[in-house]
This record gives sequence, structure tokens and C-alpha cells, in this order.
Amino acid sequence: MHFSYTSLLLGTATPFVNAFPTAIFEAAANDPNLLAQAEQLSRSVGKRQAGAGAATSVFEPVPIFDAKKQYINVTKGSGHEYVPPGANDLRGPCPGLNAFANHNFLPHNGYATVQQYIDTTAKVVGMGPLLALFLSVYGGAIDGDIKSWSIGGTPSLLQGGVTGVLGNGLIGSHNKYEGDASPTRPDLYQDGNNWMTVTKQFQELVDYSPGGQVTLESLTNFRSHRFDTQVANNPYFFNGPFSGVLVQPAAYTFIYRFMANHSAENPAGTLSYETLQSWFGVQGSNKNYNAVQGTERIPDNWYRRALEYPYDTPYFLADAVAAAGLHPKFLNIGGNTGTTNSFTPVDVTDLTGGVFKTGTLLQGNNFACFAYQLAAQAKPDILGGLLSAVTDAVGKVLSGLSCPQLKAIDTKQLQALPGYSRKPVYG
Ligand code: HEM
Ligand SMILES: *[C@@H]1O[C@H](CO)[C@@H](O)[C@H](O)[C@H]1NC(C)=O
Ligand SMILES: *[C@@H]1O[C@H](CO)[C@@H](O)[C@H](O)[C@H]1NC(C)=O
Repeated sequence: MHFSYTSLLLGTATPFVNAFPTAIFEAAANDPNLLAQAEQLSRSVGKRQAGAGAATSVFEPVPIFDAKKQYINVTKGSGHEYVPPGANDLRGPCPGLNAFANHNFLPHNGYATVQQYIDTTAKVVGMGPLLALFLSVYGGAIDGDIKSWSIGGTPSLLQGGVTGVLGNGLIGSHNKYEGDASPTRPDLYQDGNNWMTVTKQFQELVDYSPGGQVTLESLTNFRSHRFDTQVANNPYFFNGPFSGVLVQPAAYTFIYRFMANHSAENPAGTLSYETLQSWFGVQGSNKNYNAVQGTERIPDNWYRRALEYPYDTPYFLADAVAAAGLHPKFLNIGGNTGTTNSFTPVDVTDLTGGVFKTGTLLQGNNFACFAYQLAAQAKPDILGGLLSAVTDAVGKVLSGLSCPQLKAIDTKQLQALPGYSRKPVYG
């Protein structure tokens, strides 16, 4: 079977975006679930979100809304009312997962199994199956003991977790999962922590989103600003091979794709400042915000995206590529050299032994091949079994893409950058 949904999927997107997700759909052709999704997407010919700009090259294809199915009930008695974390509950850099734990969609202590992450991200926000599988399995391998991992720091015996290097959690995964230039979190080597919400950064996000609404467009502009700000202020700023190239875009696009409220009038979702505030645990009002750590909350009367168009890997990759097309610096792996404004990109040809080249990363399947294979090369200080879990997850995402095979990366250039070579101390 041969499917070519790309142009249908991407409508009037820029040409380089048009090239690649085809193969993902080809890979999906043997999977009935993914195929059904692809067919849904194909109905979307030529439509783009009203008023969307270049960052929104992928629109929500199916203008359906079913209030009953999409309503997330967090009222008293639902079993999912908001309960703030206690002293023994783990919380970390991901507001989405923190909120899930605060509402008991994930275990309230913040330590969950890979399966729980997969199920919950689909059920509560409509993450697609491939993306959920990859993110969750990767968490198990990089931050946990394959089966379970912590959304915060190292679990204690109390949480039933594995301690030490097998239980470092999202907080302890700097440059592997967690990275610099996050939307509302500080850079580890600048502030001494990588997970606490910074009110000023939240305010900037709002300031970059005029008219009361946060959009993919405004988030992409804000990301560019955050990137430049960190180059200008953090002597150790580092844009990592995986944490920078693939996790950083997720940290921005997830805000709109997963936190927006859906309705019959706006099936693609709208994200008001108030809804954003709730998800991020920020009190007060515009110009007088106050981030209160641990209070991430799913808004009352909130409707998630429709499961008929889950946000899966092809969507996410298209969003990431569209953003990189607008701001090519996002793909610059590299960092400052110990002083501000000294950003030195590494040579991608040297890094990958000639398998990839900077100039062609946005062509064909190259971005997907490059970014996901770098994930397998994150070279966690871990054991073989964990590494093979990562390799398997990467293999699943890339199967059928005919990627040029990246066997190893040459870390010599990276070693010269202090943001890479420094040993993290977590606050
Ligand atoms: C298993 C699924 C998930 C994993 C493994 C995961 C992991 C992470 C990690 C490692 C970070 C830190 C990235 C950085 O340093 O900037 C992060 C940040 C973030 N995540 Fe998640 N996440 C998941 C699901 C979600 C969901 C479902 C949402 C939305 C509801 C979400 C929203 C965000 C946002 C907005 C940030 C950026 C926070 C900020 O700096 O302002 N994530 N996540
Ligand atoms: C939400 O849950 C509460 C408590 O179980 C229930 O009374 C209410 O009917 C539910 N709301 C909807 C719209 O299902
Ligand atoms: C979501 O949209 C619906 C329909 O417009 C509205 O009733 C509800 O209050 C909104 N929820 C949030 C959290 O804004």
C-alpha cells in the first residue's frame, strides 16, 4: 500500500515541510489505528487554522467537537479534583505531568510506570500513541529503571522508586531530556535549578501573545526570544543534540497543542491567559503574576483535543520543522564557550561522521531521522539494557523512514563546550 497524505496534511505549508511526513504515513499503513488517523487527516485538504501564520503549518484537520467525550471532569467527587503536592510528592520541570499528578491522573507521588504515562497522556490531553510511547519509554530509559520513572527528582524508598543513577527523574536528566531555553524554567547552570517556574518568564510568554490568546505563532516568537536571551545571558548555554533539537520544540508546541481549550466554535482550541495560568500554577493577573510552585492545575470546564486527531509524531515533527524554518538557529547544536554571546555551533557533518549536513536537515525525512537518532546517542551514563530500550523506541518511530544510519556521534566538539562537559549539580 502506498499513501501520500503529506500535501493533504500540510495544506499550504512551506515547501520544505511538505517533503517528509509522507513516509511516516507509509510506515503507518500497516497499522489499522494509525491508518484510521491518517484517513481522518486526509479529509482536511487545504484547510488551515483561521488566522494562522507560518508556525501553524499544521492545522487541526477535523472540525469536530464532542463536549461529552472531550470534557475532563475535575470537580469534587470525580476522583480527579485538584490536590496540591505534599512534602513526599515528586514534581519537576513538566507542568503537564505535574498537573496530571495533582489531579490523580498519575500517581499523586509523581512516580509512575511507562504504561501509566502512555495511558494518561492519551486520555487527558489527546497525545498520539507513537509520541506517547516514545516519550514515556525514553523517560523509563533515561530517567528511571525502564519500567518506571519520576516526574521530579530521585524517588525515595517511600515512592517505591529506584534510587541512584537509575532513578534520577526528569530533574536529573539535564542535557539528556531536560535542556536550556525552556519557556518558564531557568537554565540549570545559570540559576542552579532547572524546574521551578519563573514568574518573569511566564509574564514574557504572555507579553509575546497579544490579544489575550496564546498561539503556536506567539509561542514560536517567544521561543526565539528565549533562545537569544539565554545566548546573551548564560555563559554555559547549551543547545543539545536531543534536548535542544527535539525536546525544546515540544516544550513550546505542547503549550498550545495540549493546554488549549476546545469547543464547537473553536475545535482547534483557544488558549487564554487564564487557562495558561491554571496549567502553569500561576496566581494573580496580567502584570501581577505570581508563580506558586506545585500548583499546576487542569482548569475547570476544560475540554481536551478530540481523539480523532491526536497530536502524534507527524504533527509534532511538522510543528518542529515549521519553527526551524522560521528560525534556523533552533537547529544549531552547540553552546556558549564560558562567556555570554559566544555561541559556537558544532559542525553537523563532523558530529555525525558525514551522515547528515546542516544545509539539508529540513529536506526529506532528514529532520526526523536526525533528531530521533540523536536521542539514541544521548549516551546516558547507563547500562546496556537501558540503552537498548531507547534504541527500540527510536526504531519504532523511524521504522519505514529509510533513514541514513547514524552509528555514533563524535562528541569531540561538544566536549569543548562547558554547557556539555560540566557535571550537573541539581538544585
Ligand atoms: C510522557 C510524557 C511527557 C514527558 C516525558 C515530558 C517531559 C518533559 C521534560 C523532560 C520537560 C523539560 C524540557 C525542558 O527542559 O524544557 C518538559 C517540559 C514541558 N512539558 Fe512535558 N512531558 C510529557 C508530557 C507533557 C504533556 C502532556 C504536556 C502538556 C499538557 C507537557 C507540557 C510541557 C511544557 C509546557 C513544558 C515546558 C515547561 C516550561 O519550561 O515552561 N508535557 N516535559
Ligand atoms: C463530574 O463528576 C461529578 C462527580 O462525580 C458528577 O457529579 C458530574 O455529573 C460529572 N460531570 C459531568 C458533566 O459528567
Ligand atoms: C472552554 O470552552 C467552553 C465553550 O466555549 C467554555 O464553556 C468553557 O468555560 C471553556 N473552558 C475554559 C477553561 O476556558
